[in-house]
Amino acid sequence: MPPFSERAADYQRRIEEFLDRRLPAPTESPHTLHEAMRYAALGAGKRVRPLLVYATGEVLGVPRGRLDPCAAAVELIHCYSLVHDDLPAMDDDDLRRGRPTVHRAFDEATAILAGDALQALAFEILASDPGLGHSTTARVAVIAALAEVCGSRGMAGGQAMDLAAERARPSIEALETMFHRKTGDLLVASVKMPCLSADRVDPAGCARLVEFARLTGLAFQIRDDLLEVEGTTEIIGKPAGSDQARAKATYPALAGVETARNRVEELHRQALAALAPFGSRAEPLVCMAENMINRQR
Ligand code: IPE
Ligand code: IPE
Ligand code: MG
Ligand code: MG
Repeated sequence: MPPFSERAADYQRRIEEFLDRRLPAPTESPHTLHEAMRYAALGAGKRVRPLLVYATGEVLGVPRGRLDPCAAAVELIHCYSLVHDDLPAMDDDDLRRGRPTVHRAFDEATAILAGDALQALAFEILASDPGLGHSTTARVAVIAALAEVCGSRGMAGGQAMDLAAERARPSIEALETMFHRKTGDLLVASVKMPCLSADRVDPAGCARLVEFARLTGLAFQIRDDLLEVEGTTEIIGKPAGSDQARAKATYPALAGVETARNRVEELHRQALAALAPFGSRAEPLVCMAENMINRQR
């Protein structure tokens, strides 16, 4: 079998096609809202969360058809979170994935509604997609796992903490808690959903996979902060230096670039240690960690 990095391109195509099929056509009314949803969800994203779903599914032997709805749902939630994150009331950014942000390409009200509708579509897919299989118990568990990480105890809560931390100097511990919530939790759900869709669940194995996602998720957000400082707008596809301009609480701002880099390396080592019992079966996730942590955009 080719390495996961080569299989990843197939998965990226697969999720793109799935999303394209499930997003309402722009010819359907309200046209502008549907156009904005498609603009936010299709093209350009790295699809890290869907890839994590497929990689975990490979490790656990879950059929791909069962993974598609999970991968689509978490990506739709992620896209919604980005649309709202960029709004003037939040990070007020004009560029995302190398293109104008949704509120710039359309308008603010459309961006708010597109985010709302993407979130609803995510749960509609999980509740209704036949690919997820016949077990209602597993389907409800998957829906609950995703719902849990979207709300005030997960991503939305993390976003609230992020806004409260602007122009403040939270402790590194508080910063990491915020990162786990705003970013790590969706990555954790990307691993939990395939665990819950597997025919046989080994609780200890799943706990290790969740720990892997938790550690990688934290490293992923620290890397994101570093890219804002080290990368260029052209390469990262979003405005470099925007965190600094808004006095956001970021890892490099609070701990320094060197400490941030070291923390990423330490988390990477710990994440790989969590996978150790899986041996060579963990190859897809080892590859994902490498891509997520050493990424340039
Ligand atoms: C950006 O996520 C926001 C964070 C949670 C760090 P990604 O880096 O996965 O963004 P896209 O989907 O590739 O645009
Ligand atoms: C990422 O927020 C978290 C969410 C969008 C939920 P950031 O504000 O740190 O990410 P970028 O830099 O805008 O992608
Ligand atoms: Mg933000
Ligand atoms: Mg932002």
